[in-house]
Amino acid sequence: MAARAQNLAEEAVLVFPGGMDRSLDYAHQATGSRRRVVGASSLAYDPARANYTDWVRLPLVTEPAFEGALRDAVEGKKIGEIFTPHPMIGDYLERRLAEIAPGVRLVHESLLDVPETYRRLTRAVDALTDGPWDVAGPPPRTEELGRIERYALFNHARTLPGQCDNEKIWTICEVLRRCPPGDLVEIGSLWGKSAFVLTWLARRFAIGPVLCIDPWSAETRHQHDEGGKVNAFADRMDFDAAFEIFQINLADFDGRWINFLRSTSQEAVAVYTEKHDVRSETFGRTRYAGQIAFLHIDGNHDHASVADDIALWAPLVMPGGWIVLDDYRWAFGHGPKLAGENLLSVYAGRIGAAFVADSALFLWLEG
Ligand SMILES: C[S@@+](CC[C@H](N)C(=O)[O-])C[C@H]1O[C@@H](n2cnc3c(N)ncnc32)[C@H](O)[C@@H]1O
Repeated sequence: MAARAQNLAEEAVLVFPGGMDRSLDYAHQATGSRRRVVGASSLAYDPARANYTDWVRLPLVTEPAFEGALRDAVEGKKIGEIFTPHPMIGDYLERRLAEIAPGVRLVHESLLDVPETYRRLTRAVDALTDGPWDVAGPPPRTEELGRIERYALFNHARTLPGQCDNEKIWTICEVLRRCPPGDLVEIGSLWGKSAFVLTWLARRFAIGPVLCIDPWSAETRHQHDEGGKVNAFADRMDFDAAFEIFQINLADFDGRWINFLRSTSQEAVAVYTEKHDVRSETFGRTRYAGQIAFLHIDGNHDHASVADDIALWAPLVMPGGWIVLDDYRWAFGHGPKLAGENLLSVYAGRIGAAFVADSALFLWLEG
């Protein structure tokens, strides 16, 4: 058993051709898993060479010398696996590898698999969104998303890193169909996954612009509840990178639909209430109405911070508007739950509907 594990550790993965995007991703992951990686290419000079510590040149698969050269590389470099994202090379090796180099595994991402990837997405979206799915609150103001639109929203969202799962996305979609025109404010955007969903839907349903508020800084991410156990993760995050990733993820929208304030929710409230005007290089200028139709609270999860976010921002939510409190049910602390219970009791007279979906608390303020 130990000898087998050692063999696996010693064998290398050959990535061919080494310069394709998926090849570079695969090589990066394999290196991260401490596997020995050998890049390969048929080009005399391949700039991708710089990404590999070991490299071999192979003839084109169509050339007679290819099979012999591959056999030599497998033996010489102790190759146990070949990865290729290239459709022709993958197809060729599927047919020939067992004979050229018996026992070597082929990992091939075939273009023929593309429809199946999308079928998995459309099946999951259909399972979530087909059939009776309704939310409490006012009747919808706008028609439902079409089938292809739904797939497009979820397909784009799944490519973004972050903490906004499909059930929450779909609930937000149904809530925004019932949302009056006004501003959408998000406290805590990180890489912009939920911000993307909000902005996509705000534009689609012509609700109003989204304001993302986040200091993108390790200090404010620090959480002290639960003995600060969530902090180790926050300490290792690169928030300048997160800020740039947020902008990359949202750059398809302009200032008509989104802008941001790089500050805490506590600092941002004065800017929002006094000026209603936000500018940034990435999105341009945004004029906010100064009335919040949809408030998403997903910042620091310490009880004091969530309570502060609610105290400062919930009074700015207009009649008929919505408040969403993320992680109301949360395994890592009690802050959102305690603050949410207080919110429910303070706003009891105004609440037209309240429910939990995908661990977030959704409130419709009727009056
Ligand atoms: C859970 S993440 C947000 C996740 C995001 N909504 C998504 O969909 O992936 C929490 C974010 O809150 C931000 N944050 C922490 N304290 C804050 C504060 N006082 N005001 C605004 N944002 C804050 C952090 O910088 C972090 O980016």
